[in-house]
Amino acid sequence: MVDSAENKVLVREFNADTDSEVVGKLERNCDLGSKRGVSIFTNMMGDPCCRIRFYPLHVMLVAELLENRELVGVVRGCMKHVGTGFGASYEIGCILGLRVSPTHRRMGIGLKLMNSVEEWLLRKGAQYTFLATEKGNIASTNLFTFKCNYVNLSSLVIFVQPICSPIDDLLPQEIKIEKLHIDQAIFLYKNKLRGKDMYPTDIDVILKEKLSLGTWVCYFEEQGWINLNTEENGKDITSKTQSSWVIFSIWNTCEAYKLHIRKSHPLRSFHATLSQAREKILSCLKLPVRVSMQSSFGFLFLYGIHGEGEKLGELMKSVWNFASRLGQNVKDSKLILTELGLCDPLIKHVPKDSNMSCINDVWYAKSLISHADEKDELLLKGQLGNVFVDPREF
Ligand SMILES: CC(C)(COP(=O)(O)OP(=O)(O)OC[C@H]1O[C@@H](n2cnc3c(N)ncnc32)[C@H](O)[C@@H]1OP(=O)(O)O)[C@@H](O)C(=O)NCCC(=O)NCCS
Repeated sequence: MVDSAENKVLVREFNADTDSEVVGKLERNCDLGSKRGVSIFTNMMGDPCCRIRFYPLHVMLVAELLENRELVGVVRGCMKHVGTGFGASYEIGCILGLRVSPTHRRMGIGLKLMNSVEEWLLRKGAQYTFLATEKGNIASTNLFTFKCNYVNLSSLVIFVQPICSPIDDLLPQEIKIEKLHIDQAIFLYKNKLRGKDMYPTDIDVILKEKLSLGTWVCYFEEQGWINLNTEENGKDITSKTQSSWVIFSIWNTCEAYKLHIRKSHPLRSFHATLSQAREKILSCLKLPVRVSMQSSFGFLFLYGIHGEGEKLGELMKSVWNFASRLGQNVKDSKLILTELGLCDPLIKHVPKDSNMSCINDVWYAKSLISHADEKDELLLKGQLGNVFVDPREF
């Protein structure tokens, strides 16, 4: 069948003037997860490039039928630089937003788009390409592993919680949460991220993005943190951290795109299938009825969560409550999401709330070049269990 795509489909760069509307429609047709009469799609608010704009080097490719110039597929790619816990750093090409119109699937168009975006990323200097998909997405998993030779790089869990008004949402008196100045946050992350298996090297750029609402530290008052009102220079921060503390940042996706529910279930609560921003099907998401009735809504993404000490469970609960309270004041935000690698030490401290849903996510990678020295080969390190999830790719 690949021949039919080879001969009938042209892959070219997206043209914002002529293609935006059609790509929007294509997205709406593709973003379906239908279970119990509910389907959710992404509203990119008129900007199909909204998820790759954060990266200076990015591309969006479309697949066009030669016979009638109909757009039947799309894929996005961007370049980023990552560091690793074993000291190496790499140029990585991220592939995201691959979609083929439901009426043109299994004709080799997805494969053709993948090959084309990989070629573009290779030309821009990518050593590896990287993508993520929900574990149960058989079509994309088969495409990536069998046809494109990707291997499993990391297994992660996405945690999703509706923003509601919890009765016990006040912070326990002994727990404090303080916002860090951006320079302190950058310094602290640069210091701590080196312990991750993989992390973006431009954390300063991420923290300075307008979608990043800030960085906070959560700690027990008796154990102290630092007095943020004094003229501390950033270098003092790490030496003054004690016992149990958690650092986290919050990203507001509502400003970039919205999720839109097509049809609502009449019952008070239900399990919906949610195909969200990064193509992952959020199966069994428990949405309260007021979320389901929203015409469109967004979420806050908790990122850069790092914790140290013995009593992380209590602190993590406070972090979630804090994010939830913050979300109540952010227009259209209805969910709190985070994603952690399976070996992230904090994963066992995520609050076990009855409203919390979990989705298994898998990252795949592929080497685009041959490595002279095997020590440099990222894919020979085995699965990366404790990775920094970049909010820009969510
Ligand atoms: C995943 C997707 C892009 C595949 O597009 P496509 O044009 O149908 O893919 P291709 O025709 O190039 O298929 C190539 C291979 O992928 C695998 N594949 C594709 N669809 C499949 C399916 N429904 N079930 C099982 N394997 C499938 C097969 O190995 C196929 O090769 P084959 O046809 O020779 O068996 C498309 O199904 C889609 O848009 N899905 C919704 C969005 C999505 O999930 N995107 C990926 C998220 S990262």
